[in-house]
Amino acid sequence: MLPAKVKIVEVGPRDGLQNEKEFVATEVKIELVNRLASAGLQNVESASFVSPKWVPQMADGAAVMAGIERRPGTIYSALTPNLRGFEAALDAKVDEIVIFGAASEAFSQKNINCSIAESIARFEPVAKAAKEAGLRLRGSISCALGCPYQGDVPIEAVVDVVQRMKALGCDEIDIADTIGVGTAGRTRDVMAAVSKVFPRERLSGHFHDTYGQAVANIYASLQEGIEIFHASVAGLGGCPYAKGATGNVATEDVIFLLNGLGIKTGVDLDQLVEIGDFISRAIGKPSASRVGRALLAKKRDGAASCV
Ligand code: HMG
Ligand code: MG
Repeated sequence: MLPAKVKIVEVGPRDGLQNEKEFVATEVKIELVNRLASAGLQNVESASFVSPKWVPQMADGAAVMAGIERRPGTIYSALTPNLRGFEAALDAKVDEIVIFGAASEAFSQKNINCSIAESIARFEPVAKAAKEAGLRLRGSISCALGCPYQGDVPIEAVVDVVQRMKALGCDEIDIADTIGVGTAGRTRDVMAAVSKVFPRERLSGHFHDTYGQAVANIYASLQEGIEIFHASVAGLGGCPYAKGATGNVATEDVIFLLNGLGIKTGVDLDQLVEIGDFISRAIGKPSASRVGRALLAKKRDGAASCV
């Protein structure tokens, strides 16, 4: 049986925008976060407190967090690779700290410049500090379905990092398909394996849509009882350390799927389509959401036929 409701973690303002070459104005980022929260997204990944040399686009994280309106009940998350990032996130009053590692050694080196074991050691004080501050802690595991450098990633490697993140006290753990190579069968097997070592209701699917498989992978995950999915409005994004990887699955496409299945999300699809249009115009790129483009065209056709 599929879950009756699903939580969507909107990652467009962080994962989506981090890869944009042209700096996106802080005001645009703030408006994006505010509009997403108003559309009913309960968890918005809004910033990264990482080295600005590594990811310049996220350098204004503190200003974004200071500028947004806080909707009661909405969780505003930020990525923190180390204690320095954690302290900045704490000052910025984020609700959820995200530590991010990988199931592939090669990707760990490229993304955060250390081995998997070193990353876990680096996350330990961050996790401890987050718990002491009473903040939610989320762990993200890149390359859980394949790696741009190493290729196949054994399921045992994913299970091993899940166990290490569980030991750090993560409230939620993301199974991330960084380069979108996962297929439904592999996704099902990975989700089944990790749910044996971590409660499935606190696992999430974070699927990039490079190979067009993300919606199928979400369906496969739903069948495994997964209830949390990450998505990016207009399918924004890519990964600076995974060349050719496209954005996360578009939030509009996920909501359309879930609406069709009668699964509740609390997200208003009409508003989301407008937000997708807003951010696509702001960055000067067409929306990567099939649903967003189709619904917008329908709206415009409707308007044209009235003239
Ligand atoms: P490093 O170079 O190994 O470490 O970076 P470092 O400690 O020597 O620091 C280098 C410089 O960065 C120093 O500055 C530090 O002060 C500064 P310098 O002395 O050269 O002037 N620095 C910082 N500045 C601001 N905030 C900080 C911070 N830390 C150090 N927190 C480090 C190691 C992890 C910091 C670096 O590799 C980094 O920031 N990487 C960012 C990686 C990143 O953001 N990747 C994208 C997000 S992950 C992702 O998208 C995947 C995900 O979506 C899931 C999926 O799809 O797979 C989550
Ligand atoms: Mg990602």
